[in-house]
Amino acid sequence: PTVWAILPAAGRGARFGGDVPKQYLQIAGQPLIVHALDALLSNPQVAGAMVALAADDRHWPGWTTRHGKPVLRCVGGGERADSVLAALQALPPGPEDSLVLVHDAARPNLHPSDLERLLHAASEDRHGAILAAPVRDTLKRGDADGRIAATEPRAALWRALTPQAFRRGLLTDALLAARADAVQVTDEAMAVERAGLRPRLVEGREDNLKVTTPADRDLADFLLSQRQR
Ligand code: CTP
Ligand code: MG
Repeated sequence: PTVWAILPAAGRGARFGGDVPKQYLQIAGQPLIVHALDALLSNPQVAGAMVALAADDRHWPGWTTRHGKPVLRCVGGGERADSVLAALQALPPGPEDSLVLVHDAARPNLHPSDLERLLHAASEDRHGAILAAPVRDTLKRGDADGRIAATEPRAALWRALTPQAFRRGLLTDALLAARADAVQVTDEAMAVERAGLRPRLVEGREDNLKVTTPADRDLADFLLSQRQR
């Protein structure tokens, strides 16, 4: 089976700030997005990658192949889900029941074993699967005065990570339906959940972090430098 990887990389990195969009920051000697791309392409089941870029992107290195696999590009959209849908629609034709992997370009520290376990779970489950990490901290609900209104039970709560893996046809239909209903979905699973399915949670490593702030960048730089030693 051929799995395509989709990298939404059309964000502006507003919370990070700076001159260069965060996906192009140098982390352990490589642009952040290159770490994310290589982690996907190094899995033998992954046939190639589709990268969704901002229309005015000036930083993409312009590759059409990497590690012998095709790297295609398309123009992303205004929200993350728009970029993912644009990427799905730009993929070369393929079976509707083949898997696609969606992975944030801003997540450089995906380990091969997590990707493998995710693909294994998703290939056996028509609902799809996502990497996720159990919530470790005690959760407080805040009120409008900045005071604690309640302590929330965390036992069943997970943080959604990426990659997330779904059948191509299912994910396309789910994202189209969310758009038609004007519901903003913040990950792929949320769109699929709206379609009545219950994707599987695959416990992933805590250090598969998304770079949102400069502190995250420093942590990612440390983690990836350690891996390369
Ligand atoms: N993304 C995208 N298209 C958008 C918005 C986001 O492809 N319209 C991508 C980002 O490039 C990133 C991933 O989705 O790889 C996760 O989004 P996030 O971490 O929120 O990145 P940004 O939207 O760039 O950051 P911010 O929200 O701080 O502006
Ligand atoms: Mg964003």
